[in-house]
Amino acid sequence: MKKLIGPFTQILPLTGLPLKGALKDEQLHIIPNGGVLIEDGLILAVDDFEKLRSNYPSAQTEEITGNHVLLPGFIDCHTHICFAGSRAKDYAMRNSGKTYLEIAQSGGGIWDSVTQTRAADEATLTSLLLKRVQRHVSEGVTTIEIKSGYGLSVEAELKQLNAIKTTADKTNAGLISTCLAAHILPKDFNGNHQEYLNHVLNNLLPVIKQKGLSKRVDVFIEQSAFNTSDALNYLAKAKQLGFDVTVHADQFTIGGSEVAIKARAASADHLEASGDYEIKLLANSDTVAVTLPGASLGLGMAYAPARKLLDAGTCLAIASDWNPGSAPMGDLLMQAAVMAAAEKLSAAEVFTGLTARAAQALKLNDRGVLTKGKLADMQAYPCDDYREILYQQGKLKPEMVWTEGNITRR
Ligand code: NIG
Ligand code: FE
Repeated sequence: MKKLIGPFTQILPLTGLPLKGALKDEQLHIIPNGGVLIEDGLILAVDDFEKLRSNYPSAQTEEITGNHVLLPGFIDCHTHICFAGSRAKDYAMRNSGKTYLEIAQSGGGIWDSVTQTRAADEATLTSLLLKRVQRHVSEGVTTIEIKSGYGLSVEAELKQLNAIKTTADKTNAGLISTCLAAHILPKDFNGNHQEYLNHVLNNLLPVIKQKGLSKRVDVFIEQSAFNTSDALNYLAKAKQLGFDVTVHADQFTIGGSEVAIKARAASADHLEASGDYEIKLLANSDTVAVTLPGASLGLGMAYAPARKLLDAGTCLAIASDWNPGSAPMGDLLMQAAVMAAAEKLSAAEVFTGLTARAAQALKLNDRGVLTKGKLADMQAYPCDDYREILYQQGKLKPEMVWTEGNITRR
């Protein structure tokens, strides 16, 4: 059954834009009084509403009243929302002057979330995750990457990945899982970093592969986590097992982005510490640069050099990093809008960073733009001009969100 949705005051299909480099708002193609024709969760046509109505008279109409701007659904290509418990104590300690690393060394940090997540059973973890997914969907995020990494044992990592799979079956949003067993060396592992990574390669990744629980592997490269040579070796072996790879890179110190490029990773994420050398490497690679303003806001640190990355020619995506430690807020649009003001990003750069370029980070080519054949993942903001969306810095939320053509109203 064909369905015609509209009219929308403006549709920004975000098509025809290059995947790499700087963009100006003048490059945006805007369809006034537009409509979207869909069937079976896919887009058949995006065009003038009246024209579609006369060309497809038998299509059922989903009438939109009032002014609305339609965008593709956002794709949050980096989150850690499968966790139990809270790290409000860490946050208060940081705000009293302790550093992220000092807190980790004194028993807080990632290990604290591992303890709390291990203590939760799979059903509890699933219901916590589903609530976060539903909140994200209501804020226009229709595809969400979700990492494990708060299990750090074969059993607990599988529990997290199973919770993600069960949650995916309960929502029309696209959930993409990533194994981040290489988050930190677990305190209860009897061995060094290399031995732990080998343990993951031998005993966890083959099970994930066999059960179809994830196609992606991530590693945190940092002084407090894994070094560059161990990480490069780990990523190479994960690729041999058939996984796509991604890296937590250059968050506090450099080195990670170079490993990501050598490993031909789909993305290098964080990049707060990246300098001119790293920026140039990223611009000359196929690795997507992912900036995580939520982590900068949560840690009170500088943003990644988003403007420089774009001007150098990278494919820049923006994700929330929503996690209980460094990025507890999880409001992707607010974070992107606030960073855009500081880094001087155009709306075209922000919106593609939240859609088509984020799809590239996840190697998804079925979404991120509104055009024939793509998923009908869309969101409508109650305003008459797309510029209102970033102007209101995240307070203006979509009134309607479609995941594969199914509408959720706020
Ligand atoms: O992306 N950098 C490492 N991992 C997460 C933080 C996780 C945590 O603090 O729990 C991040 O910021
Ligand atoms: Fe992260």
